[in-house]
Amino acid sequence: MHIQPDRFLRDLHKLRSFGAAGVGKGVVRPAFSKADIAAREWLMAQFEAADLRAHMDPVGSVWGLADGPSVLMGSHSDTQPEGGWLDGALGVIAALEVARAAQEAGGPAVSVVSFQDEEGRFGGTTASSIWAGSVSLETADQFADFDGVLFGDARQSVADLAGDFVDPAQFNGFIEMHIEQGPWLDRAGETIGVVSDIVGIRDLNITFGGDQNHAGTTPMMYRRDAVQGMVDYITQVNAAFASIVSDSTVWTNGHVSVHPNASSIVPGQARFSMQWRDRDAGLLDRMEAIIRETARTVAATRDLEVEISDYWALAPVEMDARLKAALADAAALVAPSKWREMPSGALHDATCVAALMPVAMVFVPSINGISHAFGEDTNEDDLVAGLKVLASAVTRLTN
Ligand code: GLV
Ligand code: MN
Ligand code: MN
Repeated sequence: MHIQPDRFLRDLHKLRSFGAAGVGKGVVRPAFSKADIAAREWLMAQFEAADLRAHMDPVGSVWGLADGPSVLMGSHSDTQPEGGWLDGALGVIAALEVARAAQEAGGPAVSVVSFQDEEGRFGGTTASSIWAGSVSLETADQFADFDGVLFGDARQSVADLAGDFVDPAQFNGFIEMHIEQGPWLDRAGETIGVVSDIVGIRDLNITFGGDQNHAGTTPMMYRRDAVQGMVDYITQVNAAFASIVSDSTVWTNGHVSVHPNASSIVPGQARFSMQWRDRDAGLLDRMEAIIRETARTVAATRDLEVEISDYWALAPVEMDARLKAALADAAALVAPSKWREMPSGALHDATCVAALMPVAMVFVPSINGISHAFGEDTNEDDLVAGLKVLASAVTRLTN
């Protein structure tokens, strides 16, 4: 098979034009936005042109299907509310190029997917979780974004394009190429990361409730200030985690919503996200116990109400040994002494797909480790090196 790096880069830049925003190569293309749907329609046209059967499933994932049993490759084409041009898009367009080159060469059979809502406007890896059966469609339809829009309503916007779910039995494995989204390959001057495992993640919302009141006349000692509770909670959780976490454990309060959010009002409510990630499921449990205990203690001490939502979670997963070895052999050929095996700190659709078939992932560097930001980028030589690893691995696996 003869992959064409120029065609791959041209398509990658074209995909960025759907939702291009911000400085540098930024993109705003959240799941089911106008830009996202237009990008998915464009992808389906590229699949058709590559002699693959273009298909959209009921939750908006788009597929380019080869005939008969095939290797599945891809990622997602939705973005964060402020994202870069490569997170997800790279894996989809690299898969398109490999599948297209394979069709032109008369084999091997490679299919392509762009999953919907990996970035979690409504949940997180929403479409791949539904496909893998870890979340039912009925449950997912009730997932709401921060504006209260339901996944079930959002997906109606593509109902006229959508067919059935795709039968996973036709695929003998899934390989996802992605940018690293962290600093390690770039700092080491390396080109390729072969993923060993993907960390687990848990994510919930905590709401502190107090008394909304006048910020000038309410004495400090009589206040029930929800934001003071949130700040106290975050400080105490940071201190409590310090003694149990490892260097690679991470936790984030990325979304905060204060009511009524005005400088002259003592806030009556503070709702915020609490997300934590690690490779060790036991540690995730211990962190959860601290989170719940700290929230309850802060609420009791400050006379606040507290509500802790159900959590959304993905368990840590190992990559398949055979697929990983094919990627490692290809990496050694394409980037001798400039590749490593490494864990993924970011979540990926591959975690969900692992419930259905063997999965593996390959990374290329992120310049300065930047991602989930407009400044995300990768040198084009490294993008092409990743493409070559993907093509070489699929050739090895199918020979
Ligand atoms: C998804 O990109 C994540 O790791 O949050
Ligand atoms: Mn991604
Ligand atoms: Mn992402």
